[in-house]
This record gives sequence, structure tokens and C-alpha cells, in this order.
Amino acid sequence: MPKVIFSNEKLNIDAADGANLRETALAAGIQLYRGPARLLNCRGRGDCKTCKVKIEPDKNASPRTAAELPRAHGRILQMIDHRELIGWRLACQVRIRGEIDVATQC
Ligand code: FES
Repeated sequence: MPKVIFSNEKLNIDAADGANLRETALAAGIQLYRGPARLLNCRGRGDCKTCKVKIEPDKNASPRTAAELPRAHGRILQMIDHRELIGWRLACQVRIRGEIDVATQC
């Protein structure tokens, strides 16, 4: 069972291999959302982008889904959220594949 270390909350939990990170965090009582997003989020569909977490190492998580990739349509380079490119992931899109350290935004 991979260990998931929530560094901000100082909580370590064991998760099933392939478990969804958002569901794992919420089941453990970890708050992923800030402000209004606590109520107004897409419930894991990858639409709202409010469940961002920083994961290390990224290799112990599933590959990025289409919902996590910067969109080419209608965006110019300066408008891309660069956090998407350096370890930030959408918790709802991540499957746990090994031990990971997770930093939430809360
Ligand atoms: S819950 Fe909306 S993008 Fe993850």
C-alpha cells in the first residue's frame, strides 16, 4: 500500500494502489479546497481546477490527464498557469502509484 504524506497537515495515510487522490484526501478529512470552492467545485470531473496540490515525486502518480494539460485554444503563453508544469496536479485526476508527498493549498 503506497503511503501518502500530507505535509501541511502532518498526516500519513496508507492508500490502495491506484486510489484517487481527491477521494483519499477527503476520506481522511483533508481539506483540498479554499473559500467558495469548498462548496462550489466540480466534484472531481476536472473542470473547476480548484483541487490543485503539489506532489513529489510526480513519477509516483498517474500521468497527467487531458484536464490537467494547458489548453491551447484561446490562450497565449503568458496566460498559462505555470504551476501546471512544475509538480502541481489536480488531485481529482491523480491515481496513487507509490509513496507521494502532497502539499495542499489550504
Ligand atoms: S475537483 Fe474540480 S478539477 Fe478537481
